[in-house]
Amino acid sequence: KKKMILDLDTGVDDTLAICYALGSPEVDLIGITGTYGNVLVQQGVRNALAILDLLGHPEVPVFAGLSHASFTEEEFEVLPVSAFIHGDNGIGDVEIEDSERSVEETPAVDFIIESVKKYGKDLIYVPTGPQTNLAAAIKKAPEIVDEIGAVVLMGGALTVPGNVNAWTEANISQDPDAANFVFRSGIPATMVGLDVTLQTLLTYKDTAVWREKDTYAAGKIADITDYYIKAYETTAPTLHGCGLHDPLAVAVAIDPTLVECLDINMKVDVDGPTRGRTIGDTDRLNDPVKTMKVAVKVDVPRFLDEFMTRIGNL
Ligand code: BDR
Ligand code: CA
Repeated sequence: KKKMILDLDTGVDDTLAICYALGSPEVDLIGITGTYGNVLVQQGVRNALAILDLLGHPEVPVFAGLSHASFTEEEFEVLPVSAFIHGDNGIGDVEIEDSERSVEETPAVDFIIESVKKYGKDLIYVPTGPQTNLAAAIKKAPEIVDEIGAVVLMGGALTVPGNVNAWTEANISQDPDAANFVFRSGIPATMVGLDVTLQTLLTYKDTAVWREKDTYAAGKIADITDYYIKAYETTAPTLHGCGLHDPLAVAVAIDPTLVECLDINMKVDVDGPTRGRTIGDTDRLNDPVKTMKVAVKVDVPRFLDEFMTRIGNL
């Protein structure tokens, strides 16, 4: 069985990514590492612990990661737009009981490295926030690039505009330098970006199905998700639903046939006016070895079906 680590800035769709992983019998979720983005890292790990308890999985350990981007010493501050989309607490301002557990003592970066050493090619690492923790892990133990099974990341946009501005997507925009370092490190990575995640939309009709289960946990997950759907009505009224960004990355990690990919060497613009743009790397255009895949097409009905089934498994 494949082992999975989720690296989350636990907001709403990160929560749905946890649900997808726990509802998937094909993988063992061996840990969650926390990052910043939708919320501060401390709030993200608090949410992850609470969600794991809510879903009856207190055995999954949670590790705290780095608290701010690699290019600055300044403390990270949550952007107003993130708070609007995910709520001040990251989980749609829904109240759920805090876990009695606390975060593990091992730092996230060390847990990532140790897990690669232990599981090698059987390990899939799925970051759905900024790439800060992964970049730090590669800097500390560069050999993991060749040892890890796969990285399937949510972030970036190649064929569509960004969601922060025309050229950058939220996760990449938080730490373009870290993402660029990861993209150019040679680590085998699949980018699941806005190209595909904005095609996979969830509506109130779907959360109503969860409510019908009439369990405490299903009700809470529906409340959290409804907050997010409502925010999308304001920020992206033409979409008619909310983007299932982070759960799609988990789904692709489990079943790569859900998407069609371009084999391409990628970089992130780190200088100049389009800082944060994910784009093909001209320096490696003619390199026959392509280390990245960018998802450009997704089987929407099949993914939505899998998504609803797996949430239903919980
Ligand atoms: C990504 O940004 C975050 O707000 C979401 O959780 C998702 O990971 C979408 O651009
Ligand atoms: Ca996220």
